[in-house]
Amino acid sequence: MVAANASNSFYATTPIYYVNAKPHLGHAYTTIVGDALCRWQRLLGKDVHFLTGTDEHGLKIQQAADAAGMAPREFVDSIAPLFADAWRKLDISNDDFIRTTEDRHRIGVQHLLQACYDSGDIELDTYRGLYCVACEAYYVEDDLVSGNCPIHKRPVEHVEEENYFFRLSRYGDRLLDWYAKHPGAIVPEHRMNEVIGFIKQGLLDFSISRTSFSWGIPLPWDSKHITYVWFDALANYITAIGYGVDDAAFSSRWPVDYHLIGKDIIRFHCVYWPAMLMSAGIEPPHGWAVGGWLLVGGEKMSKTTGNVVNPLDLIDESREDGVGVDGFRYYVLADTPYGADGDFTYEGLIGRYNSDLANNLGNLLSRVATVVGKKCDGVGPAPRADSPLADAARSAVAETMARWADVQPSRALEATWQLIRATNAYLEANEPWKAEPGAHVDNVMGDALEALRIVAILASPAIPRTAQIVWDRIGLSGSVADRRVPDDVAWGGYPGGTTVVKGDPLFPRKS
Ligand code: MSP
Repeated sequence: MVAANASNSFYATTPIYYVNAKPHLGHAYTTIVGDALCRWQRLLGKDVHFLTGTDEHGLKIQQAADAAGMAPREFVDSIAPLFADAWRKLDISNDDFIRTTEDRHRIGVQHLLQACYDSGDIELDTYRGLYCVACEAYYVEDDLVSGNCPIHKRPVEHVEEENYFFRLSRYGDRLLDWYAKHPGAIVPEHRMNEVIGFIKQGLLDFSISRTSFSWGIPLPWDSKHITYVWFDALANYITAIGYGVDDAAFSSRWPVDYHLIGKDIIRFHCVYWPAMLMSAGIEPPHGWAVGGWLLVGGEKMSKTTGNVVNPLDLIDESREDGVGVDGFRYYVLADTPYGADGDFTYEGLIGRYNSDLANNLGNLLSRVATVVGKKCDGVGPAPRADSPLADAARSAVAETMARWADVQPSRALEATWQLIRATNAYLEANEPWKAEPGAHVDNVMGDALEALRIVAILASPAIPRTAQIVWDRIGLSGSVADRRVPDDVAWGGYPGGTTVVKGDPLFPRKS
């Protein structure tokens, strides 16, 4: 586990997404994990800053604009809002959205370039080598698979030009030393081993500028050179929080607590980026949380492979396979352990929805509200301090907290769902629906309502809308997101005496 900033702040980022394609399930995956993590940190009382955005420069974007018959600026202006809009529809609670075409970004990037140049780590050289436009990355022969880009499986281009290079080769020992002092900075742990192994193979300098295209940020000391995309893109994490413009704002947020990234961009984030920061005299990140890919039919989703799933289709409840925002969020968070690859299927989506949401959570609320309506005059009784459910609640809270601290949303939700299952089992064992109104029913229902109250708080980072509905229906006021963990999830917080409302099913079953 990575220690958070000494201050009470928590800063997390998603990758910034290329605007050559519309938002797809793969982008939504990383963004939802980041969102849920940040919502959890807000429950812990942290002053959270959650950043996402779009990566808008480079040859790939320039070519996409050409293909669309548009000027690059016009093109990126037409796509970037699709991301912002998708994130709004998925209830992403980002505090900022950075576009690399913004002035604040250009100023910060030039500041960073100048700092690395002044420290002697950026030098002019001739580049001869292989380049994949889809990756915006250079490769050496050994990286290729059957002569093609290892990611896109497409031919690479032979390139020869004068470039500025970042002297990454000088940073091997410093990076190894830094990682040795910061074990646990990269989660899951095996990704750290991969990074260390890569550094130990010996680092090559990398090109940071090109003269063959114009769509990007010029180097401050040599304006015919345009910053090569990764130097530009990585800098978003600091330019968005004031680097080069507002030192106080910057140092109140940096170092970032977690960069959430896919495993495909680990080298850039865990090797290039900390070296660039060291060169500029900036502290490396506190942490990186590396996710796997969400595969569709066994392949990484991408425009190039043509297997793109639009997340906005899946939340459309008028469709047979539409599961609502929370149904979709829950599926991506719960179904794949963060770090591993997952395989997206409609059957998997509907299966999880029916079992965990409709049958477990939805059914629990509906049973409780029905019995309270029929046998307690619709008024929720208070829980018992010595309830048999109190231990189940305490262990669910402890385990949920531990798993969020490890950035393991699927395990955190599994722990929360244990409490839902325990409560359903408790109801089945006590059968309050068969008993006469009175102390037995009141005791059991008070306990179940308290469990639901705790579940609403613990599940709120994953399913914020539903958590609020549960909160409201069991008669609690205010916003569930304003609760605090661990204080408000201690057993016994349900006051009793509040009106419980049955309402429509939370998650109507899908066939
Ligand atoms: N623009 C760069 C990132 C720069 S960050 C300083 C980029 N953009 S991207 O749009 O191609 O993809 C960004 C990230 O989205 C991937 O690295 C990965 O984290 C995530 N994903 C894209 N497709 C994905 C899946 N199919 N599954 C899971 N995550 C995926 O790379």
